[in-house]
Amino acid sequence: MEQKPEVEIEHKDVAPDAELAGAIMKRHFRPSLIKSEAWEGYTFADLEIKIKESTDCYGAVLWPSAMVLCHFLDTHQETYNLVGKNVIELGAGTGLVTIVCSLLGAKVTSTDLPDVLGNLCYNVRRNTRGRCTYEPRVTELTWGQQLEERFPKASCGYDYLMAADVVYSHPYLDELMETFEHLCSKDTVILWAMRFRLDPENRFVDRFSASFHLEELYDLPSLHIKLYRAQKKVSGSQSHSEAAA
Ligand SMILES: C[S@@+](CC[C@H](N)C(=O)[O-])C[C@H]1O[C@@H](n2cnc3c(N)ncnc32)[C@H](O)[C@@H]1O
Repeated sequence: MEQKPEVEIEHKDVAPDAELAGAIMKRHFRPSLIKSEAWEGYTFADLEIKIKESTDCYGAVLWPSAMVLCHFLDTHQETYNLVGKNVIELGAGTGLVTIVCSLLGAKVTSTDLPDVLGNLCYNVRRNTRGRCTYEPRVTELTWGQQLEERFPKASCGYDYLMAADVVYSHPYLDELMETFEHLCSKDTVILWAMRFRLDPENRFVDRFSASFHLEELYDLPSLHIKLYRAQKKVSGSQSHSEAAA
């Protein structure tokens, strides 16, 4: 019988659930007055961020995974200093992660499906204009499509790849995997907030860990979310904590 490869995930100082989940959720606020335009408010990088949502599609709603990733970035600015770093976000949706990375000083390429880009652009411009050193770029990236033409390996050089809640019951998990592989060099650090739902898509983590060293940064069972740091495996390479030891 074929043996299942062991999934190697490092668990290092994972913060306790309830307190952390509470702190993350406190970042959200609602406008005190009903205005003509509805928005949801978030506080990150000491600034108020206004996000317009709609119920049209997954990408038009802000998912808790995005808040988890933003909270981590905001509270780990020394270890993960984004100033002047090249960052790409996959499946940016309403744009919170892109906005927070930009407010923290990164040069961000924010990507999603074509239908989502209008609202994404609106939120990104509204919250970054005049507040950031580098204006973020919003552009289409449909997973697995035109990767080398639009994002040539030779010129990408991303320091970080951000992804929040990109794994769920969609039929593009192969294409998503291909996109992670294409965009990351051995030096690219992936910060990925994964919302656990059903088994078939949850197994993506096992598959992912065959190609990337995976380290668990947060485990939030009350939100069904884990935050991972990942880096491409290259032959003979060490994980982040092995290298630090
Ligand atoms: C659950 S939403 C998460 C949105 C955002 N990251 C957040 O956490 O609020 C999943 C995102 O992946 C995008 N997406 C789904 N399939 C995609 C594909 N094939 N190519 C690119 N983006 C895709 C959706 O448009 C959506 O923005």
